[in-house]
Amino acid sequence: PSNAMWGGRFAAGPDAIMEAINASIGFDRRLARQDIEGSRAHAAMLAATGILTDSDAESIREGLLTVLSEIEGGDFAFSTALEDIHMNVEARLTELIGEPARRLHTGRSRNDQVALDFRMWVRDQCDAADGALAALQRALLAQAEAGADWVMPGFTHLQVAQPVTWGHHMLAYVEMLARDRGRFADARRRMNECPLGAAALAGTSFPIDRHMTAQALGFDRPAGNSLDAVSDRDFALEFLSAAAICATHLSRLAEELVIWSTAQFRFVRLSDRWSTGSSIMPQKRNPDAAELLRAKIGRILGSAIGLFTVMKGLPLAYSKDMQEDKEPVFDAADTLMLSLAAMTGMVSDMEARPDVLRAAAATGFSTATDLADWLVRELGLPFREAHHVTGALVAMAEGKGCDLPDLTLQDMQSVNGGITEGVFDVLGVDNSVRSRTSFGGTAPDQVRARIAHWKGVLG
Ligand code: ARG
Repeated sequence: PSNAMWGGRFAAGPDAIMEAINASIGFDRRLARQDIEGSRAHAAMLAATGILTDSDAESIREGLLTVLSEIEGGDFAFSTALEDIHMNVEARLTELIGEPARRLHTGRSRNDQVALDFRMWVRDQCDAADGALAALQRALLAQAEAGADWVMPGFTHLQVAQPVTWGHHMLAYVEMLARDRGRFADARRRMNECPLGAAALAGTSFPIDRHMTAQALGFDRPAGNSLDAVSDRDFALEFLSAAAICATHLSRLAEELVIWSTAQFRFVRLSDRWSTGSSIMPQKRNPDAAELLRAKIGRILGSAIGLFTVMKGLPLAYSKDMQEDKEPVFDAADTLMLSLAAMTGMVSDMEARPDVLRAAAATGFSTATDLADWLVRELGLPFREAHHVTGALVAMAEGKGCDLPDLTLQDMQSVNGGITEGVFDVLGVDNSVRSRTSFGGTAPDQVRARIAHWKGVLG
């Protein structure tokens, strides 16, 4: 038998493999709620504009609620022959209420229907990502507050560079995640135009009210061009792009946690809840969650690249290629939400070791810059010369196998006669971080001010 929805001109039904490659019901059933919400708004609008009778619209709207409860109750027989969620819902509605169901698709096409459903789904994901990002920001903020003045090494090239504070390092990620939230919020704002009523591609001759459906479905306005409305998947690409950038941030933090939890670093202890054992090496506590988070970017970025590749070069308006838009977005959204939840759990539970951080902060001549700055400030040396003098002192300390504060005043004076006892004040890591008082710097007072700022933002 040929298809009940579009089979009028067909004598034979599709090949089984045609059906398999064509069907999207295996994944787009996730759009059921959005599909039904969209159809209920469409039916109400068709009644308000006199295109449908009130009683037909009422039975459609009621029937759709029944379909929704069947689907949500796991009590729905999805059919591959019916291709997708749109036709599965409509077919069931027809079984339930009969003839009025066959009037629902007036002034509408699956092209604007799917554009609507998917857009609403992605819009919800932007909101979910925002909430999950805020939760992770709070977890990082709690860590920052606990260790606003714990000194630790700051790195460049993964070599000790200058002392920073734990709070400062945690807040670096709070800033990144705030930008991620901004990207999801921007994407949401831009995607919030309603494609419904664009119909197949050209609009419709029925006197529909697109403003009414747009408003009912929480959109700012109807999309302004029907061709664009059914062809646009920018919203999905933007979501994936924002997700990829966010996952990049998570992977960087994850990598730091992997490094920090090694026996060589010992900066943090990940809790048992976020570690795993080895089946052969009884001593092991592996940071598997962090490693997986480090890897998830591959999957999310892969989804983004996949959809960009589908969309590039597609002529207007709808082509079936666009059915390939959903799986990458579903997978990326699921992966991102799981990653955010895992990172939030791991960060909340982890324990930094302030003594280890502090000891590490003093290694690697981390206060050499403080010494050079002191030579500039106290002796009036040009910075380049101060840099050179300090380099000589570092070489001397290295030769003696000690750190900068372990050199004697005579050692120092042998390189520059003007150096005085006061220099030792700036060689300690606490003085070093305390001196970094420029706005956004690592001085504990600056860090506390930034914590207060973020507390205000996050409530
Ligand atoms: N399942 C389809 C999709 O996801 C719905 C739109 C079908 N439109 C069409 N003209 N065949 O893209």
